Amino acid sequence: MKNIIILTGAGISAESGIKTFRGSDGLWENHKVTDVATPEAWARDPDLVLRFYNERRKQIREVLPNKAHLALVQLEKYFNVDIVTQNIDDLHERAGSSQVMHLHGEINQSRSSIDENLIYDIVNAEMKIGDQCELGSQLRPNIVWFGESVPMIEQAIPLVEKADIVIVIGTSMQVYPAAGLLDFSKPTTQIYNIDPNSVMQSQQKNLSIIKQKAGVAVPLLVRELLNNN
Ligand code: OAD
Repeated sequence: MKNIIILTGAGISAESGIKTFRGSDGLWENHKVTDVATPEAWARDPDLVLRFYNERRKQIREVLPNKAHLALVQLEKYFNVDIVTQNIDDLHERAGSSQVMHLHGEINQSRSSIDENLIYDIVNAEMKIGDQCELGSQLRPNIVWFGESVPMIEQAIPLVEKADIVIVIGTSMQVYPAAGLLDFSKPTTQIYNIDPNSVMQSQQKNLSIIKQKAGVAVPLLVRELLNNN
C-alpha cells in the first residue's frame, strides 16, 4: 500500500466553524496571540490563559467534523494514512481517522507545568487555577505555545520522508518547524495543496495546487485517489 501523509492546519476546520489564526484583524478570537499563547502570557496571567483555552475547548466540543475530515477517513481503505495536524481540535479523531499526530498539542489534554511528559485527559470542559499534576504543580493546557519547541516534529519527519503522496490542507505554512516538513519529501512524491489562498509555488511538476475550500476539494481528491489506486 502507498503511504499518504496529510498535513492539516486551521483551514480544514474552518467549515466546522472554528476560526483560523491569521484572519484579517490579526487577532485570535479577540486576543493578541502574545497575550494568550506564549510562556510569558502564562507566567503573567495564567487565569486569563486558562479561561481563553476553556473557551476554545467549549467551542470545539460544540462543533462537528466537516466533509473534509470525513472524506480523509475513506483513504484508509487503500492507503497507509498518517495525519499530521497543527490543529489542537479533535475533529480528525471524531471523523474516524485512526492515525493522527498533533504537532501543537491537544485542547482536550492538560499537562504538568514542571514535567512535559505528565499529560492528562481533560474530562470536564474547564481547567482552573489550583488543578495540579501528581507532582503538585499547576496544570497548564497541553498546547505548544509560541517560542516553545515542537517535540513531535521528530516523529513527523520520517513519515514525510517515506510518503508517496503528501496532501497539505488549510495551512498558511508560516509557522516552523511544521512549515519545513515538505523539505523532507522525496523528489518523486506527489504533493497536493488544498487552500483557497494557497501561496505555494507551482513550478514543481509534482505539485498540484487546488485553490478551493477543503469541504469541496478534499472529497473530490479522495475520490480521484481511490479511483486511480
Ligand atoms: P492559519 O490561520 O495561518 O492558516 C489557515 C489557512 O487555511 C490559510 O492559508 C487559509 O487560506 C486557509 N483556509 C481558510 N479557509 C479554508 C477552507 N475552508 N479550506 C481550506 N483552507 C482554508 O493557520 P495554520 O497554518 O494552521 O499554532 O497556523 C499554524 C499555527 O499557527 C497554528 O497551529 C497555531 C498558530 O499560531 C499554535 O497554536 C502553536
